[in-house]
Amino acid sequence: MSDVPFRNPGWAGNTGEFDLTEEQVRGTDFVGERPPEGGHPAAAGTYPYQRVERDPDAPLFEGPYKERFEKILTRYPTKQAALLPALAMAQELRGHLSPETMNEVADLLELSPAYVRGVATFYTMYNKRPVGRYLVQVCTNISCNLCGADDVLEAFLRYTDTELGETSEDGNFTVIEAECLAACGFPTCVQINERYFENVTAGDVPRIVERLKAELEG
Ligand code: FES
Repeated sequence: MSDVPFRNPGWAGNTGEFDLTEEQVRGTDFVGERPPEGGHPAAAGTYPYQRVERDPDAPLFEGPYKERFEKILTRYPTKQAALLPALAMAQELRGHLSPETMNEVADLLELSPAYVRGVATFYTMYNKRPVGRYLVQVCTNISCNLCGADDVLEAFLRYTDTELGETSEDGNFTVIEAECLAACGFPTCVQINERYFENVTAGDVPRIVERLKAELEG
Protein backbone atom coordinates (compact mmCIF):
# COMPACT_ATOMS: atom_id res chain seq x y z
CA MET A 1 0.00 0.00 0.00
CA SER A 2 1.17 3.48 -0.75
CA ASP A 3 1.74 5.77 2.25
CA VAL A 4 0.66 8.75 0.15
CA PRO A 5 -2.57 10.08 1.70
CA PHE A 6 -5.55 9.51 -0.56
CA ARG A 7 -6.98 12.87 -1.31
CA ASN A 8 -7.82 12.95 -4.96
CA PRO A 9 -11.52 12.55 -5.73
CA GLY A 10 -10.68 10.52 -8.81
CA TRP A 11 -8.29 10.44 -11.71
CA ALA A 12 -7.82 14.08 -12.58
CA GLY A 13 -5.38 13.72 -15.41
CA ASN A 14 -2.55 16.22 -15.34
CA THR A 15 -4.28 18.94 -13.35
CA GLY A 16 -1.68 18.62 -10.60
CA GLU A 17 -4.32 18.46 -7.87
CA PHE A 18 -2.80 15.41 -6.21
CA ASP A 19 0.60 13.86 -5.83
CA LEU A 20 0.13 10.24 -6.83
CA THR A 21 2.66 9.08 -9.36
CA GLU A 22 1.59 7.28 -12.49
CA GLU A 23 2.93 4.00 -11.04
CA GLN A 24 0.92 4.49 -7.87
CA VAL A 25 -2.26 4.98 -9.84
CA ARG A 26 -1.78 2.37 -12.56
CA GLY A 27 0.53 -0.15 -10.96
CA THR A 28 3.71 -1.33 -12.59
CA ASP A 29 2.43 -4.46 -14.29
CA PHE A 30 -0.43 -5.30 -16.59
CA VAL A 31 -3.12 -7.19 -14.73
CA GLY A 32 -3.18 -10.25 -16.90
CA GLU A 33 -5.64 -12.11 -18.98
CA ARG A 34 -8.91 -13.91 -18.81
CA PRO A 35 -8.38 -17.63 -18.41
CA PRO A 36 -9.02 -19.41 -21.73
CA GLU A 37 -11.26 -21.97 -20.07
CA GLY A 38 -13.66 -19.30 -18.87
CA GLY A 39 -13.05 -18.79 -15.16
CA HIS A 40 -15.15 -16.08 -13.59
CA PRO A 41 -18.73 -16.04 -14.88
CA ALA A 42 -18.22 -12.50 -16.15
CA ALA A 43 -15.66 -13.85 -18.59
CA ALA A 44 -17.70 -16.87 -19.63
CA GLY A 45 -19.81 -14.89 -22.07
CA THR A 46 -16.79 -14.29 -24.25
CA TYR A 47 -15.48 -17.85 -24.20
CA PRO A 48 -14.11 -19.00 -26.56
CA TYR A 49 -14.52 -15.93 -28.73
CA GLN A 50 -11.61 -16.65 -31.02
CA ARG A 51 -9.25 -19.58 -31.24
CA VAL A 52 -5.68 -19.32 -32.47
CA GLU A 53 -6.15 -22.24 -34.82
CA ARG A 54 -9.19 -22.17 -37.06
CA ASP A 55 -10.13 -23.27 -40.52
CA PRO A 56 -11.87 -20.98 -43.01
CA ASP A 57 -13.16 -24.11 -44.79
CA ALA A 58 -14.39 -25.93 -41.68
CA PRO A 59 -17.90 -27.36 -41.98
CA LEU A 60 -20.41 -25.27 -40.14
CA PHE A 61 -21.66 -26.72 -36.88
CA GLU A 62 -20.84 -30.41 -37.00
CA GLY A 63 -20.05 -32.75 -34.12
CA PRO A 64 -19.66 -30.83 -30.84
CA TYR A 65 -20.47 -27.59 -32.64
CA LYS A 66 -23.79 -29.05 -33.73
CA GLU A 67 -24.53 -29.88 -30.11
CA ARG A 68 -23.66 -26.36 -29.03
CA PHE A 69 -25.73 -24.90 -31.83
CA GLU A 70 -28.75 -26.95 -30.82
CA LYS A 71 -28.28 -25.98 -27.20
CA ILE A 72 -28.12 -22.32 -28.18
CA LEU A 73 -31.38 -22.65 -30.11
CA THR A 74 -33.16 -23.85 -26.97
CA ARG A 75 -32.45 -20.53 -25.26
CA TYR A 76 -34.43 -18.47 -27.75
CA PRO A 77 -38.11 -18.32 -28.62
CA THR A 78 -37.35 -18.59 -32.35
CA LYS A 79 -34.32 -19.87 -34.22
CA GLN A 80 -33.99 -16.47 -35.92
CA ALA A 81 -33.32 -14.91 -32.53
CA ALA A 82 -30.16 -16.99 -32.16
CA LEU A 83 -28.36 -15.07 -34.89
CA LEU A 84 -25.71 -13.36 -32.74
CA PRO A 85 -24.40 -16.50 -31.00
CA ALA A 86 -24.62 -18.46 -34.26
CA LEU A 87 -22.44 -15.87 -35.98
CA ALA A 88 -20.04 -15.88 -33.03
CA MET A 89 -19.69 -19.64 -33.26
CA ALA A 90 -19.17 -19.51 -37.03
CA GLN A 91 -16.39 -16.99 -36.46
CA GLU A 92 -14.88 -19.12 -33.72
CA LEU A 93 -14.64 -22.00 -36.21
CA ARG A 94 -13.58 -20.14 -39.31
CA GLY A 95 -11.89 -17.00 -37.98
CA HIS A 96 -13.98 -14.54 -39.94
CA LEU A 97 -17.42 -14.20 -41.47
CA SER A 98 -17.13 -14.32 -45.23
CA PRO A 99 -20.24 -13.57 -47.34
CA GLU A 100 -20.49 -17.34 -47.92
CA THR A 101 -20.43 -18.06 -44.20
CA MET A 102 -23.11 -15.44 -43.60
CA ASN A 103 -25.25 -17.10 -46.28
CA GLU A 104 -24.85 -20.49 -44.63
CA VAL A 105 -25.91 -19.05 -41.27
CA ALA A 106 -28.85 -17.37 -42.98
CA ASP A 107 -29.93 -20.74 -44.41
CA LEU A 108 -29.59 -22.47 -41.06
CA LEU A 109 -31.69 -19.86 -39.29
CA GLU A 110 -34.13 -19.28 -42.12
CA LEU A 111 -33.21 -15.63 -42.42
CA SER A 112 -32.52 -13.61 -45.54
CA PRO A 113 -28.83 -13.18 -46.44
CA ALA A 114 -29.36 -9.40 -46.45
CA TYR A 115 -30.63 -9.45 -42.87
CA VAL A 116 -27.66 -11.49 -41.68
CA ARG A 117 -25.28 -9.22 -43.59
CA GLY A 118 -26.87 -6.16 -41.97
CA VAL A 119 -26.43 -7.58 -38.46
CA ALA A 120 -22.89 -8.88 -39.00
CA THR A 121 -21.65 -5.61 -40.44
CA PHE A 122 -23.15 -3.62 -37.54
CA TYR A 123 -20.93 -5.23 -34.91
CA THR A 124 -17.18 -4.69 -34.92
CA MET A 125 -16.69 -7.96 -32.97
CA TYR A 126 -17.42 -9.90 -36.14
CA ASN A 127 -14.43 -10.05 -38.47
CA LYS A 128 -15.54 -9.46 -42.01
CA ARG A 129 -12.15 -10.41 -43.39
CA PRO A 130 -9.42 -12.81 -42.32
CA VAL A 131 -7.32 -11.81 -39.31
CA GLY A 132 -4.08 -13.14 -37.86
CA ARG A 133 -3.91 -15.95 -35.32
CA TYR A 134 -3.86 -13.21 -32.71
CA LEU A 135 -6.19 -10.26 -33.18
CA VAL A 136 -4.74 -7.45 -31.06
CA GLN A 137 -7.33 -4.80 -30.29
CA VAL A 138 -5.88 -1.76 -28.57
CA CYS A 139 -8.43 0.52 -26.97
CA THR A 140 -7.69 4.08 -28.00
CA ASN A 141 -10.83 5.57 -26.51
CA ILE A 142 -10.72 8.43 -24.05
CA SER A 143 -9.49 6.86 -20.78
CA CYS A 144 -6.90 4.70 -22.48
CA ASN A 145 -5.94 7.51 -24.82
CA LEU A 146 -5.19 9.83 -21.89
CA CYS A 147 -2.96 7.12 -20.43
CA GLY A 148 -0.77 6.39 -23.44
CA ALA A 149 -2.85 4.14 -25.71
CA ASP A 150 -1.29 5.68 -28.82
CA ASP A 151 2.15 4.59 -27.61
CA VAL A 152 0.84 1.10 -26.84
CA LEU A 153 -0.68 0.83 -30.31
CA GLU A 154 2.52 2.03 -31.92
CA ALA A 155 4.54 -0.50 -29.88
CA PHE A 156 2.29 -3.38 -30.95
CA LEU A 157 2.66 -2.36 -34.59
CA ARG A 158 6.42 -2.19 -34.20
CA TYR A 159 6.90 -5.47 -32.34
CA THR A 160 4.52 -7.46 -34.53
CA ASP A 161 6.00 -5.86 -37.64
CA THR A 162 2.68 -5.00 -39.18
CA GLU A 163 0.61 -2.06 -40.34
CA LEU A 164 -2.61 -0.94 -38.70
CA GLY A 165 -5.43 -3.27 -39.76
CA GLU A 166 -3.13 -5.51 -41.78
CA THR A 167 -1.96 -9.02 -40.95
CA SER A 168 1.72 -9.73 -40.40
CA GLU A 169 3.47 -11.74 -43.12
CA ASP A 170 3.68 -14.82 -40.90
CA GLY A 171 -0.09 -14.68 -40.39
CA ASN A 172 0.31 -14.37 -36.63
CA PHE A 173 -0.86 -10.85 -35.80
CA THR A 174 -3.46 -8.32 -36.83
CA VAL A 175 -3.40 -5.10 -34.83
CA ILE A 176 -6.38 -2.77 -34.81
CA GLU A 177 -7.73 0.11 -32.74
CA ALA A 178 -10.82 -0.61 -30.67
CA GLU A 179 -13.42 1.59 -29.11
CA CYS A 180 -13.94 1.38 -25.34
CA LEU A 181 -13.43 -2.20 -24.13
CA ALA A 182 -15.22 -1.49 -20.84
CA ALA A 183 -12.07 -1.62 -18.74
CA CYS A 184 -11.64 2.16 -18.47
CA GLY A 185 -10.38 1.85 -14.90
CA PHE A 186 -7.35 -0.11 -16.11
CA PRO A 187 -5.97 1.79 -19.06
CA THR A 188 -4.59 0.91 -21.48
CA CYS A 189 -6.78 -2.09 -22.13
CA VAL A 190 -5.85 -4.49 -24.92
CA GLN A 191 -7.95 -7.44 -26.02
CA ILE A 192 -6.04 -10.25 -27.70
CA ASN A 193 -8.41 -12.90 -29.03
CA GLU A 194 -10.51 -13.80 -25.98
CA ARG A 195 -8.13 -12.37 -23.39
CA TYR A 196 -8.01 -9.00 -21.73
CA PHE A 197 -4.71 -7.37 -20.86
CA GLU A 198 -5.10 -4.39 -18.57
CA ASN A 199 -2.84 -1.55 -17.43
CA VAL A 200 -0.69 -2.14 -20.48
CA THR A 201 2.08 0.35 -21.17
CA ALA A 202 4.28 0.55 -24.25
CA GLY A 203 7.03 -1.01 -22.14
CA ASP A 204 4.93 -4.15 -21.55
CA VAL A 205 4.39 -4.79 -25.24
CA PRO A 206 7.62 -6.68 -26.12
CA ARG A 207 6.97 -9.09 -23.25
CA ILE A 208 3.36 -9.67 -24.31
CA VAL A 209 4.32 -10.26 -27.95
CA GLU A 210 7.12 -12.65 -26.93
CA ARG A 211 4.68 -14.54 -24.75
CA LEU A 212 2.22 -14.91 -27.62
CA LYS A 213 4.95 -16.11 -29.96
CA ALA A 214 6.07 -18.63 -27.34
CA GLU A 215 2.49 -19.90 -27.10
CA LEU A 216 2.47 -20.48 -30.86
CA GLU A 217 5.73 -22.39 -30.70
CA GLY A 218 4.71 -24.35 -27.61
S1 FES B 1 -11.53 3.84 -22.69
FE1 FES B 1 -10.26 2.08 -22.90
S2 FES B 1 -11.43 0.55 -21.92
FE2 FES B 1 -12.74 2.27 -21.83
